[in-house]
This record gives sequence, C-alpha cells and structure tokens, in this order.
Amino acid sequence: MRRLVFTQSIFSLFALFYTVSAAWALPSVAAAALRNHLPFTKTLYLNNQDKPRDDTQYIFQNQYQHPVIMDEYPPNTVVPTSTPPPEDIDHQSKSMGPIVADVLPKIKWINIFASLTRDFEDIASRLNDSSRNVTVLAPRNSAIQGLPRKPWENPEDYEAFGEANAYSGSEGEDRARKNLRRFVEAHLIPASPWRKDDEVGTLGGGKLKWYKEGEKIYIHPGGIEVDHIAAQVSNGEVWVLNGVVNYQ
Ligand SMILES: *[C@@H]1O[C@H](CO)[C@@H](O)[C@H](O)[C@H]1NC(C)=O
Ligand SMILES: *[C@@H]1O[C@H](CO)[C@@H](O)[C@H](O)[C@H]1NC(C)=O
Repeated sequence: MRRLVFTQSIFSLFALFYTVSAAWALPSVAAAALRNHLPFTKTLYLNNQDKPRDDTQYIFQNQYQHPVIMDEYPPNTVVPTSTPPPEDIDHQSKSMGPIVADVLPKIKWINIFASLTRDFEDIASRLNDSSRNVTVLAPRNSAIQGLPRKPWENPEDYEAFGEANAYSGSEGEDRARKNLRRFVEAHLIPASPWRKDDEVGTLGGGKLKWYKEGEKIYIHPGGIEVDHIAAQVSNGEVWVLNGVVNYQ
C-alpha cells in the first residue's frame, strides 16, 4: 500500500508537471520555478480530468458531523450519504474527520487548482487549519486551461518588461509567482458556510456573493456558474466552478 501510494505520487508529480508546463506552455524558467515548488501529492484521476459529470462524485464528509443543508444552499449541493473509506482519512485528523486540505487533492476535475494551492506555503497551511473555516472556489481544469492567458501572466508585465523578459530571470519568476498567488487568492473565501446574498471578501481582496437562477447557482460579479459543491468538511467547503473568478 505504501509503495503503491508512493508510486502514484511520483506518477502524479510528473503527470501534473506535464499538465502544468505543457498545457499552459510555461516559459522554461517559470516552469522550473514551479517544478521546484510542486509537492508530492496523491492526486488522482490525472488522466481523466474531465470525465462526464454524471460520474460518481467523490464526497468527503466529517463523519462526526451531520451536514446541515440549509435552504440557502444551492439545490445541486451533493449531500454525502456515506462516510469515506478509511484510506481517505488522514491519520492526524482522524479524531476531527477530514478537512479541506485533505479532500482538495482528491476531488475530480480540479487538480490543477488544488496543486496551485500547495505551491504557497501560507495558503496550504490556511487550508490545513482545522480551526479556521474556508470556502474554496475551485475552477475546473478545463476552465483554467481555457483562459485566454495563463494564470501567471499579466498583460501589464508584458507591457512593462517585454514579451521575452516578463517572466525570465529571478525577477520574472517572482512576477509569475505573484500573479499565480493572486489567482489562487481570488478563489479563497476565509469563511464558511457562505450563505446566499452574503457579500464576502476573498483572500485576494475581491468581494463576491452568489445568487440562484432557476436551479443553478452563479457567483457575482462575473456570473460564474457553480457546477456543484464537491465537499463539505469540518472546516469548510469546496465548490467546483465552471469558470474563474476575476483575479486582476
Ligand atoms: C496539517 O496539519 C496537521 C495538524 O496540525 C499537521 O500535522 C500536518 O503536518 C499539516 N500538513 C501540512 C501538509 O502542512
Ligand atoms: C465552520 O464550519 C463548520 C462546518 O460547516 C460549522 O459547523 C461552523 O459553525 C463553522 N464555524 C464558523 C466560525 O463559521
């Protein structure tokens, strides 16, 4: 089992790096910078990131807590019906049940975003803090890959430093990381639960609320569609988005 997990981690690392560098065509220096920060993960489903949505969802639920699904929750909230298998529970969090940091890498379709959260130590530890709640708005892989520019690119950098130099050298790497951080922080709300019409601030400083249109949930501003809520655990929730939050 240990060996299996280890092998899987190695595989995931390479698969993830391939995804990040090839799919986004990272400049080599920025890619090297990222690679140095890529953690070993147990990310699953790297080869079928965007399987059909009716596939079985992987749901994680604090087994010692009953989910309180209020009226304000989206109608497409997935209510967990069973406790996760034992191997899904981290040893140290056994008494508390899983937290956001435990479940994020295991949710389908969002492993690019999940890996970005682990690139920043303070963000990773915020998600791994069982005493502080968080709502993670995780864009699907396809939404990130479909962006007109990469999350670490900022047109202003190209204007100021030129195409070739914007992300080269150590200053260029710093710019790329700063932009990536802004992207990640725009998708993290340091509170949970997040109720309808509550205007909340993201870690990036933006202000968001959500509204319903028919059976669908959208995030304002931007009208970003929420695909579903993939996890509800003791310190927060993971929402899967079909788009990205404006991060400029
Ligand atoms: C997450 O938090 C737990 C408990 O505080 C700690 O033991 C563990 O090392 C942390 N994991 C990471 C990846 O920081
Ligand atoms: C944190 O989230 C849990 C689970 O949703 C909830 O029961 C608790 O009230 C929240 N705590 C705060 C301070 O919002």
